[in-house]
Amino acid sequence: MTNEDLLFKTLTLGNMKLDNRVGVAPMTRTSATSEGLATDQMVSYYTSFANGGFGLIITEGIYPDDKYSQGYLNQPGIVYKEQIQAWRKVVDSVHQAGSKIFAQLMHAGALSQGNRFVNEAIAPSAVPPKGEQMEIYGGKGLFRLPKKRLKMKSQRSLMVLRMRPKMPNLLVSME
Ligand SMILES: Cc1cc2nc3c(=O)[nH]c(=O)nc-3n(C[C@H](O)[C@H](O)[C@H](O)COP(=O)(O)O)c2cc1C
Repeated sequence: MTNEDLLFKTLTLGNMKLDNRVGVAPMTRTSATSEGLATDQMVSYYTSFANGGFGLIITEGIYPDDKYSQGYLNQPGIVYKEQIQAWRKVVDSVHQAGSKIFAQLMHAGALSQGNRFVNEAIAPSAVPPKGEQMEIYGGKGLFRLPKKRLKMKSQRSLMVLRMRPKMPNLLVSME
């Protein structure tokens, strides 16, 4: 069997069968609404990969709490019912096109450069990140000095998984 044969062989991942082993890596696009709702543009973006035959799509980093996890303005979230419903449009469309989709849950930490909930960043150490904020994602200049938080409050995002019975499937496999 050649490498190419292997690439296009099905793969069982947990309880899921992927059509092939070609996946889309997570790519932040900042094309959600300012309230973090997935848009029609995102439906079309993710569906285009599914139509192109990718067996698996991993979403852009999604913020899982309404505190410090958001990294960019117009980043999609998965905190509120409305945000979950908005993702449903993406998920259904990708499934209809025959692919699978996984959510990437992301905490931006010190690299947060746009957050609609709080006006500060937290990190394990009060050390500003090297380099400058990414202008393509709406940032400008140096990163802020994050507040040191050893026990992050955003561990709450893990609790969200346990507290909302309908969410685990959506978060883990978006099914
Ligand atoms: C525009 C863009 C956005 C990205 N956003 C994310 C992201 O949200 N989460 C993440 O883990 N990686 C992100 N990455 C990193 C990619 O998933 C990938 O790891 C990186 O491009 C290296 O892959 P390669 O070696 O195939 O080029 C992003 C990359 C690009 C180019």
